[in-house]
Amino acid sequence: MRKFIPIAEPSITQREINYVTDAVKSGWVSSLGHYITEFEKKFAEYIGVKYALTTSNGTTALHLALVTLKIKEGDEVIVPDLTFVATANAVAYTRAKPIMVDVEPDTWCINPNCIKKAISKKTKAIIPVHLYGHPADMDEINKVAKEYGLYVIEDAAEAHGAEYKDKKVGSLGDVGVFSFYGNKIITTGEGGMITTNDEKLYQRAKFLRDHAMNPEKRYWHPEIGYNYRMTNLQAALGLAQLERIDELIEKKRQILGWYKEFLGDLEGIRLNPEKEWAKNVFWMVCIVLEKELGISRDELMAKLKEKGIDTRPFFYPMSQMPMYNSGEVRSVTYNLSERGLNLPSGVNLNKDEVQWICETIKTILKHT
Ligand SMILES: Cc1ncc(COP(=O)(O)O)c(C=O)c1O
Repeated sequence: MRKFIPIAEPSITQREINYVTDAVKSGWVSSLGHYITEFEKKFAEYIGVKYALTTSNGTTALHLALVTLKIKEGDEVIVPDLTFVATANAVAYTRAKPIMVDVEPDTWCINPNCIKKAISKKTKAIIPVHLYGHPADMDEINKVAKEYGLYVIEDAAEAHGAEYKDKKVGSLGDVGVFSFYGNKIITTGEGGMITTNDEKLYQRAKFLRDHAMNPEKRYWHPEIGYNYRMTNLQAALGLAQLERIDELIEKKRQILGWYKEFLGDLEGIRLNPEKEWAKNVFWMVCIVLEKELGISRDELMAKLKEKGIDTRPFFYPMSQMPMYNSGEVRSVTYNLSERGLNLPSGVNLNKDEVQWICETIKTILKHT
């Protein structure tokens, strides 16, 4: 048994090494090169959209999507209260205001009924987040968006390959956004992607990503753009990972299956949800502790750490962060946030390790 079992780790094979080596040797080390175009083309095909655009990370992809949709000061954008901070921060970068709403108890994603109540005259967009690999209820979200004339930006940073009613997330709103950080389903080290079926939107995002340079007149910049590009080296890694994505998702689902096998019968513990219309890619294995267990989430995490088992707490509510603090308590988000933790979820885990982690949890719970 390993002395330390990390929460996540990438799977790097000879394919990744070959592609990255080839990219380095080619001399195309910055943001031009065939790995970029190939990664974008194959990612668009995989998600089932017409266009995909690489970015430097998932946060810049979110920001770029928002500025492409002309979100600006005075606007409001609805986001789930339970998410990684980048979702809300990207809205703040545009000087628009992120409006946090509660999540559903059975998907942990944004609650469409709460979205309706949060809409004002200033609302311009909704950002559903496919949290921990589970898709948000996109039909209901799109219905509300259509009724009020709002854009939908899917934050699919944690959910590459997850499906909503047999369609991949990232293809269901106006724009999809992905992250390829080292702990994600597939990685480029740091990196991101925008997906869309809208050619104008794609062209505008590409233009803004490359310092808003006029494609017909080099070094002429009619407005302020950004350098949010990915490198060819990162795309080489990404392409190799994308070619293995089915295998990686299968492994994620197998790992969750092992946790279910060894923890499923334990009273007072809830594992990741999976609605009947969803394919969850189980980016992170999650457990939520019920009150009756008599041990807090943080105590359990501390005891697991002593045994060399890495964990992380669920995200804190965005509405609790000092810069977004609204003073309101949102019950589902707050309850999950206090009681949820992520267990080791890396694709290099084996069944014995998962069994050992689960037995360690059971022993800790027995002695409390
Ligand atoms: C829900 C969510 N949105 C956005 C991001 C931002 O992605 P990145 O870390 O690549 O900037 C993350 C990444 O961790 C995320 O989990």
